[in-house]
Amino acid sequence: MGHTHHLSSGLSGSQLAQFKRDGYLIVPDALSRETVTSLLAETHRLLRDELDLSTHPLTKFSTGGADDRDHVGDAYFLGSGDKIRFFLEEDAVNPESGEVVYPKERAVNKIGHFLHELSAPFAAVSAQQEGEDEGKVTPAGIARSLGFRDPRVLQSMAILKQPEIGGAVPPHQDSCFLYTDPPSAVGFWYALEDATVENGCLGFLPGSHRWAPIAKRLVRRRAGVGDEEAGGTEMVANEGRRFPDGEEYGEDKKGDEEREWVAGEVKAGTLVLIHGNLLHKSERNTSQKGRIIYTFHIIEQEGTVYDERNWLQPPKQGFTKLYA
Ligand code: FE2
Repeated sequence: MGHTHHLSSGLSGSQLAQFKRDGYLIVPDALSRETVTSLLAETHRLLRDELDLSTHPLTKFSTGGADDRDHVGDAYFLGSGDKIRFFLEEDAVNPESGEVVYPKERAVNKIGHFLHELSAPFAAVSAQQEGEDEGKVTPAGIARSLGFRDPRVLQSMAILKQPEIGGAVPPHQDSCFLYTDPPSAVGFWYALEDATVENGCLGFLPGSHRWAPIAKRLVRRRAGVGDEEAGGTEMVANEGRRFPDGEEYGEDKKGDEEREWVAGEVKAGTLVLIHGNLLHKSERNTSQKGRIIYTFHIIEQEGTVYDERNWLQPPKQGFTKLYA
């Protein structure tokens, strides 16, 4: 009694209907101004205190040339699931020499993938429980609205998309990278700065989550004996289920409505919820303004199989519970 949906921390009926129809949902003011400030401060602190470009493996001179650098880069990426590591903008690095040609604050594209455990300010975002902050949605409340039984946070990233050199992200579906059988990934994407067409906001193909299958997925390449992490990754055909369970999904749903890509311009503090089958992308940042965002992903642990060939493997204690 007295429980109205705008006081709960989950999605309202119309928000849920919108997410099911479009495969994404924009929720303005999901983070308070103070939280946004604290997350930006933490991002800058990590760059300042935790990153030393002179010892960063991607910038180390390697006698094997570009090939060797690739292997080092693969290992650095594949080992990042339970660490805080820094990934550079492609255009911040001289492809010949491997030398970083920008100051570090301007060179990093992404910080990942264990912020939700190792950074207190970022961990606080996914740790908010239902009804903790009346009037605001929380990840746990949203997951409950979406029907998650045991959602687990499996990765998190601050993505900086630097002024002038911030790289484009081609159309993709997150469940190709975070595959469960059946697919269950949902992305929580929070703008920490205003995202506009100029600085490379998200773009969506509305409704594509209902007809676009997870046809392939990213796996760890089966390397020879020994150094598994240096084997890198590859895309392979997906032999498992290609859609979440449900009548609304299927490749035959495509005929219903063919829609145009939609740009998702949002203010700082906004949450964008992204279905794991949804086709989405972002353009290059050619403006003078950065575009810092925080994103983490959840999967359903109960009744799904987490694929053992996924690039990201659970830490010993398992992926982080979203429900307290
Ligand atoms: Fe994505």
